[in-house]
Amino acid sequence: MQDKILILDFGSQYTQLIARRVRELNVYCEIFPYNKIPEIGKNIKGVILSGSPFSVRDKNALIPDLLKIKGEKPLLGVCYGAQYLAHFFGGKVSPSDKREYGRANMKFIDNKNELFTNVSANTQVWMSHADTITKLPDNFKVIAGTDDVEFGAFKIIDEETYGIQFHPEVYHTVEGKKIIKNFVVDICSAKQDWTPDSFVSSTVTELKNKITNDKVVLGLSGGVDSTVAATLLQKAVGENLTCIFVDNGLLRKNEFSQVLTSYKTMGLNVIGVDAKDKFLSDLEGVSDPETKRKIIGRNFIEVFDKEANKIQNVKWLAQGTIYPDVIESISVKGPSATIKSHHNVGGLPDVMKLKIIEPLKLLFKDEVRRVGRSLHISDEFLNRHPFPGPGLSIRIIGEITQQKILVLQEVDDIFISGLKESNLYNTVWQAGAILLPVQSVGVMGDERTYENVVALRSVSSTDGMTADWSHLPYEFLSNISNKIINNVKGVNRVVFDISSKPPATIEWE
Ligand code: XMP
Repeated sequence: MQDKILILDFGSQYTQLIARRVRELNVYCEIFPYNKIPEIGKNIKGVILSGSPFSVRDKNALIPDLLKIKGEKPLLGVCYGAQYLAHFFGGKVSPSDKREYGRANMKFIDNKNELFTNVSANTQVWMSHADTITKLPDNFKVIAGTDDVEFGAFKIIDEETYGIQFHPEVYHTVEGKKIIKNFVVDICSAKQDWTPDSFVSSTVTELKNKITNDKVVLGLSGGVDSTVAATLLQKAVGENLTCIFVDNGLLRKNEFSQVLTSYKTMGLNVIGVDAKDKFLSDLEGVSDPETKRKIIGRNFIEVFDKEANKIQNVKWLAQGTIYPDVIESISVKGPSATIKSHHNVGGLPDVMKLKIIEPLKLLFKDEVRRVGRSLHISDEFLNRHPFPGPGLSIRIIGEITQQKILVLQEVDDIFISGLKESNLYNTVWQAGAILLPVQSVGVMGDERTYENVVALRSVSSTDGMTADWSHLPYEFLSNISNKIINNVKGVNRVVFDISSKPPATIEWE
């Protein structure tokens, strides 16, 4: 059985980051809510308690049941996790009277302690807490501290239980990765065998066992997740997998035919469905963004359902759901656990009465890409920017017409091709163009024009939850603007969106 590190979540914004750091060491880990601890089997090599927006001093403090963990398995409490261990085992936690937010440097580190092997004496760490430990229980010993935080880290004597009040998982803790490695690899002795290759071979075996000779259907979107999911399944069940790729008329210029050809070249058994007219006629006259999304979602289900029904005896519906969509997160408003709803595929399972299979549901986005590389999917596919399910419909502000789609496809193509030609495409997270329902005055030759404005949007981000606008070179923007205005009939003005998220969003509607 695969070695595993368990991460118990107390609602910190950084919990997923802890998981990513562990997985970067090629060690498998999973996140569970602090109050839904799974069975502690032999393969669980250690446990990490996350931070939390709560205080251990609250009467509603989050209290995990560590009976089968503390003293039995190596345990590391981070921030709230550390304060929990100190507070509930005989020490004291009080509100801090000094600034304990931001960068700090260690004043003392016990290098003889395995947690800090090879960590520099005055290493920089990231603090983020309103409480602080003011007294350690008798059997705890301090193993690191800063000027302001006397008990920066501790170990329980005769137990592999540790606590650190700073956050090793964030970038600003300069040697955080080393500390996590010391815990996971040296203290927990977890095997570093969670690699893309091992994931591919174990998943393919699991899929074969689960699906046997049944038939599977999967909706391809042209994006990374569904493509990787399809490739994995194809390796497992071969021709018993049928993929359906729907042209909703709202894709990028030439995207449908190009992507369909790539899928076929990759050996996928794919049916391309031209449903442009159905989508566009249902969208006629609609300008409300949520209505657009609903119409597109409903139409997708109808088209998909009709095609899937043509396949005899299909039993499984495969989806490219990934880990951030399924992690049960602790609600900051209270300890009730909530599950995020799926972004793209909501509704399909009920309609089709198929069994669901989600081979990527334990992977983060960057891991999906690494698995894709291990499956020899081309970088061109794997590095594609995210593209919203409703496509260009939410980038045409107001009503959608065929003419507007053609204009926006041209503008978008000039922008995206330009990014690629200037080697900027892989430096931005997502880019696209928006057609505004605004006309502006211009001159061309001797004539006054009255034509459309387009906005260019390009952002840097890691997960789309927050984003900053890309600081693209002026020279590049200037060339793209000229090219758009000179080549796309109907556009006489180009603007560049310089808003970050929050408070703005990436899309305009
Ligand atoms: P926002 O605009 O919320 O976008 O900052 C965050 C990310 O989500 C994408 N997005 C969508 N994706 N269906 C999708 O599949 C949608 O309705 C949708 N709306 C936004 C957006 O492109 C960005 O990557």
